[in-house]
Amino acid sequence: MIIDARKISWVRSDHTVLKNVDWQVRTGEHWSLVGLNGSGKTTLLKMINGYIWPTNGTLSVLNRPFGTCDLRELRKKIGWVSSALSEKFRSGERPEAIVLSGKFASIGLYEQTSPAEREKAHALLNQLGCESFENRAFGLLSQGEKQRVLIARALMADPELLILDEPCNGLDLFAREQMLSMIAELAKSADTPSMIFVTHHVEELLPCFDHTLLLKAGTVFKSGHASEVMTPEIMTAFYDHRVSVQRRGGRLSVELNEDAAMESRF
Ligand SMILES: Nc1ncnc2c1ncn2[C@@H]1O[C@H](COP(=O)(O)OP(=O)(O)O)[C@@H](O)[C@H]1O
Ligand SMILES: [Mg+2]
Repeated sequence: MIIDARKISWVRSDHTVLKNVDWQVRTGEHWSLVGLNGSGKTTLLKMINGYIWPTNGTLSVLNRPFGTCDLRELRKKIGWVSSALSEKFRSGERPEAIVLSGKFASIGLYEQTSPAEREKAHALLNQLGCESFENRAFGLLSQGEKQRVLIARALMADPELLILDEPCNGLDLFAREQMLSMIAELAKSADTPSMIFVTHHVEELLPCFDHTLLLKAGTVFKSGHASEVMTPEIMTAFYDHRVSVQRRGGRLSVELNEDAAMESRF
């Protein structure tokens, strides 16, 4: 079991951010976590990474029940890539050092590294298509290039769970598709950890994310096989707007129906 969340809630003063969330992710499954802005996605991820604790309910991640496990050890087994992370690195840092720092879960590289570790860092940079800019300073890279370096960094620690928190945010159409094809390639390799892809854009969902959890206002609206969750009926209820769902080449697109689009505009 990768994640076993049972009725978890997170309450802040008078505000319930997460409510009765049940979520089971099994080894080898890749999930998408879909919700509008403010639905609680990042809060749920912070909890899975042990940065905040459930107010109620029980949570076990990588078979380590919260309350009995060392959360720092747990975090070493989880790769969490987000745009917030990319702001933490010095702009002069080289991609190779950033990837190597993943081995030590540190921001900045303070440890001696072995030739084998440096070789692995290069192999990961190549795998993520970073060869052409691996000697450039991190601060000079585009958003998409930074994200790819950070995915390579996350993989350096051989995580059992890889969380991609809105990896396509701020990317143009081409950078986004390039990022998605890298992720699709990753999913194909046998030693890739379970992945969670977080987004509020349904059209970013790749076929490899065959399970979906829809989060709405801090509650699980629906979860299960993507094909059973992403139906026009369920998505219409999820968005509170009539939508149509199209499938093309394994990818989805959701469109507001015209009258619903008019309603939301006025
Ligand atoms: N530390 C906090 N205290 C109170 N409310 C919070 C805190 N962190 C997040 N929230 C609120 O919880 C809701 C969910 O936030 P978040 O998990 O960041 O959503 P998402 O990632 O889906 O956009 C938001 O309304 C946000 O303002
Ligand atoms: Mg978020």
